[in-house]
Amino acid sequence: AQRKQIDKVLASFQLTREQLLGVRDKMRAELEYGLKKQTHALATVKMLPTYVYGMPDGTEKGKFLALDLGGTNFRVLLVKIRRRSVRMYNKIFAIPLEIMQGTGEELFDHIVQCIADFLDYMGLKGAQLPLGFTFSFPCRQTCIDKGTLVGWTKGFKATDCEGEDVVDMLRDAIKRRNEFDLDIVAIVNDTVGTMMTCGYEDPRCEIGLIAGTGSNVCYMEDMRNIELVDGDEGRMCINTEWGGFGDNGCIDDIRTKYDKEVDEGSLNAGKQRYEKMTSGMYLGEIVRRILIDLTRQGLLFRGQISERLRTRGIFETRFLSQIESDRLALLQVRRILQQLGLDSTCEDSIVVKEVCGAVSRRAAQMCGAGMAAIVEKRREDQGLQHFKVTVGVDGTLYKLHPHFSRILQETVKELAPQCDVTFMLSEDGSGKGAALITAVAKRLQQPQK
Ligand code: BG6
Ligand code: GLC
Repeated sequence: AQRKQIDKVLASFQLTREQLLGVRDKMRAELEYGLKKQTHALATVKMLPTYVYGMPDGTEKGKFLALDLGGTNFRVLLVKIRRRSVRMYNKIFAIPLEIMQGTGEELFDHIVQCIADFLDYMGLKGAQLPLGFTFSFPCRQTCIDKGTLVGWTKGFKATDCEGEDVVDMLRDAIKRRNEFDLDIVAIVNDTVGTMMTCGYEDPRCEIGLIAGTGSNVCYMEDMRNIELVDGDEGRMCINTEWGGFGDNGCIDDIRTKYDKEVDEGSLNAGKQRYEKMTSGMYLGEIVRRILIDLTRQGLLFRGQISERLRTRGIFETRFLSQIESDRLALLQVRRILQQLGLDSTCEDSIVVKEVCGAVSRRAAQMCGAGMAAIVEKRREDQGLQHFKVTVGVDGTLYKLHPHFSRILQETVKELAPQCDVTFMLSEDGSGKGAALITAVAKRLQQPQK
């Protein structure tokens, strides 16, 4: 009887082929709404123009600073580009929670403080360098160096930033400090940076995917399909912000009560519903809610809900990844749970592992269904029977989880059989891509001779 109750919970995470096709087709519809003038304002997938028109061509050169804000780590980087060789130096800085959720001025003052430390550390004090800003949040752009924050996502919630131009906020903070001058040339989403980083090596790369703290995709779209931007020639990269897919309720039929609890306990309730089912910041929380429920039903941890289990955020992605590793014996799973302050029996650890598996499997499948929508759209747009494309990918979930990438790829194959999709792991982060974009933008800024 106990087994039946557990299976019932696990079953609510198992999606049928029809349900996955439904996700794919609804995502496809939202992508189209987002591109059209008439429906853009209502679309849950924002489809933001990036003003990035193409890939670097190998002639880029120079020294650039890059900032990389919004993932697990905040980095400041120095990127030196010279004839196809790129050298990078970087430093990771912490962003304390009080700053992530303090005022905008405090956040940007902190960022500028980190830049100052980095310049000092590199012996570049007083240097005046062009800067590319990877800012991994939705921004409405009208050119490459302006970006109005639509709304914070993930763990950020600094005040007075939404609706503001974050490039201006950074410039103002640099002025307040009055110690150095930087030329902020480009603001870039992490998906776009990742696509560029991979595109530098593989010209077939025209899609960028992040499966990390958050979940998002960008891709090269034909200008004639982008109604919000004038011109019909060539292509532009679109930051889909697909994390917001489902915010109109269109996937509520497959959301479980645990998904709803996670959403309600988050900083942005009601928003980013797809992201909350597919990305690292939330998967552990879903698992924790299930474990609480199973414990309440007397099916786990001898029916005792410990203080730890009540604590938000204890299951980070890396724990899920460890627990699901096939190389790990159950005894080691128990040890991990113990580290988390959860006293488990052998049976408990089997159930916990099953729960983690069900949650991450659904995440990978849903992400795959979304990707199938993108590649199918691109195939049809170009009138192709077969479409071969490379997706540049980054993010801790994709990199660390033992099964996520495999299930994602299997799902894409299954739901987009006419597309041949190669996933290329980005080794260098999106800072490199941001520097490349900065190099191109800088070149275009110069008066043509
Ligand atoms: C990194 C990028 O490589 O990947 C970050 O440079 C990005 O900007 C990140 O946000 C995504 O991964 P995560 O897991 O750190 O959110
Ligand atoms: C969130 C952000 C998005 C970013 C993604 C991955 O979805 O809104 O801009 O690309 O996380 O970091």
